Formats: sequence, C-alpha cells, structure tokens
Amino acid sequence: RAVVIIDFDVRPIRNPMSELDRREILNAPVFGKVFTDHMVTLRWDAERGWHDGRLEAFQNIALPPSASVFHYGQEIFEGMKAYRQQDGSIALFRPERNAARFNASARRLAMPELPVDTFVRAVELLVRQDRQWVPNGDGTSLYLRPFMIATEPTLGFTLPARSYLFCVIACPASAVFSTRTGPRALTVWLSEEYARAAPGGTGAAKAGGNYAAAFLAQREAVEQGCDQVVWLDAVEHTWIEEMGGMNLCFVQHSADGESSSLMTPALTGTLLPGVTRDSLLQLAGRLGLGRNEGRINVQQWRKQCEAGLITEVFACGTAAVIAPVGRVRGANDEWTIGDGRPGPVTLRLRDELLGIQYGRIPDDLGWTHIV
Ligand code: COI
Repeated sequence: RAVVIIDFDVRPIRNPMSELDRREILNAPVFGKVFTDHMVTLRWDAERGWHDGRLEAFQNIALPPSASVFHYGQEIFEGMKAYRQQDGSIALFRPERNAARFNASARRLAMPELPVDTFVRAVELLVRQDRQWVPNGDGTSLYLRPFMIATEPTLGFTLPARSYLFCVIACPASAVFSTRTGPRALTVWLSEEYARAAPGGTGAAKAGGNYAAAFLAQREAVEQGCDQVVWLDAVEHTWIEEMGGMNLCFVQHSADGESSSLMTPALTGTLLPGVTRDSLLQLAGRLGLGRNEGRINVQQWRKQCEAGLITEVFACGTAAVIAPVGRVRGANDEWTIGDGRPGPVTLRLRDELLGIQYGRIPDDLGWTHIV
C-alpha cells in the first residue's frame, strides 16, 4: 500500500502573546487554564480520508449544533507533555505510545485511525511553533492535548459519523497534586455506588464519555474530603481498578520479607493502559523491585497495609506524574498507608522517571524524543 504523507499548511499568527505576559504565565503555570498561540487541525471524511492539515491560530471551532459529537459523544483524547531539557532543547516522552493508544481508542469508538507518524508530526509541529511556551521551572512542562471529535451534521445514530476533526492544543502546566516542595499525599474515596467501566465497555479507551460519567462520583469524593475517587470493578464491586485520570500502583512485600514488587492492576479491558504505568513497570527493576500486574480487592488492600505488606501506594499518570496516596476512605472503612506521607520507593521512582523526562539522567531506554 502506498504511504500517504499528510502535510500541514503552516500559518503562524502575527500577534502572539507578548513576551511579558507569557513569562508571567510560565512562572506559575496552572494546569489547563491558558493555552498557547497555535493549534494543529486535520480533517477526515469518508471520501477524502485525512486532509486539510493546518497549523493555525488557537481559536474557536465552529460546528453546526447538529454535529454528532454534541449528541452521541464520539470524542477521544490523549495527554502528553513536552519537557525542557537542561541544554534548552525540548523532548517528548514516548509519543508513539500515545499515538498507538489514540488509535486503540479510535477503533473502540468506531472513529478513523490516524497514522502514527502523522500524530507525532502534528504534536511536534505545535511544540516547535510554540517552543517559547515550554516552561523551564522545576516540574513544569508543556501539556499537550490531542483529541478527535465527530463533526458530521446528523442525528443519525445507526452508524458512526462520516466526518471528524483531529486537533492538538497545548498549555503550560505544573504537575497536578504537587506543591512547591514536592508531591503531597492524597486521600482517596472508594466509590461503592457507581462504576466507571464494565467488561465490554469503553474503559480501556481514552474517551471523553468515561470522564463525563465519572464526575458524579468525583464530586462525592470531594464532598467526603477526598482528592480522587478509586474505581472498583463493575461486576463484583470489590477489585481495585484505577482512579479515572490515573492508574494505581502498590509497593508490596512478600510475607517472608525476601522480596518486594511494584504491583498494579492488570489491564483487564476495563482500565486505561497508562504510558506512565507502563514506564514505571519497566523502571521498577532498577530499584530492585519485581513487577507484578495482578489484582487486589478492598479487603486485601486494607489487611496488607495493616500487616505492613503494603507500605506505599501511589497514583500515576501524565498530568499527575506520581501522586502518593496517604489515606483511603470508604462509606464504612478508613485506613492509612504507611505513615500517611510520600514513601521512599514512590519518591525514588518519581526521581527516576522525571530524571529521564527532563534529560537529567541518561535515557538508555530510548524514550525521549527530541523535537
Ligand atoms: C493525563 O494524565 O494526561 C490525562 O489525560 C488525565 C486527564 C484527566 C488529566
């Protein structure tokens, strides 16, 4: 099959944000609030395939109210970051993994796949154009949000839409749940009433609808004084899955004290295959930890914490990086993990990952992708 090269028409704007205003934003970036000067767009329809690629001004998207995304929610997205390296260059982290997951999400939502090269080129194009927007403060980065929506003006619901818009936007960011002195420990809420994803559903896809369905439980978590909701499996309501925007990892020790491992719920089809999750499983060996994709239920989690067999738990994701979990709360249950503060394994894994992402330690895994 002939390789189709999809090109982008580059139309930089004449009046980017002033250097002074940009600097003020970059000094204290707040996740997801201020966006860079440009965006990349690309369209798909059944007749032409992918076409009309552009780098253009960050601007409103005009769509008819009948566009099918507004009615049936065909939307998928990715989260990734560009990191300022010590020598001033800029690196993406494993962008082809995000491209591959984007296509897995597209397949599940019956949307068109985008060639991996085109996905990566679109992201690179935006980062290169808006490179002045990549902050260099500790723990800061340029957060990238590629997404795709169904644009066909129809309420027809028997077949997927026949036209789509792919778009990449970017915003300077600090790690979510971090303070100036490092990560803070989260209190998490066990959602016993609601479920995020059922077998056969869209839980493994990064689809906007999964997040829409999570807000009610997330609001309940906040009302209970917690930071995030922990989702249990939809069938037995007891197995730990993920936190919605982040995967969960457990530092688990054998009863004889001989070995320790990084345990995370296996990818059963109902949880998101995180790029950070996969990277940490690969890094675990460097800290002398085994890697274990397994399963754990609520009772086991509590009992193993009390017995000292689980000493640390943390959430991981692109936006949050690594966020330690200090306390777990449910309707009838509450316990502390370790001493409730970020643990040593959590902090070392975080240093290792951030070290690679910011180019402070050599990347012998080939994960960094200089833009
Ligand atoms: C990310 O970590 O990049 C995500 O996409 C999660 C999102 C809910 C912020």
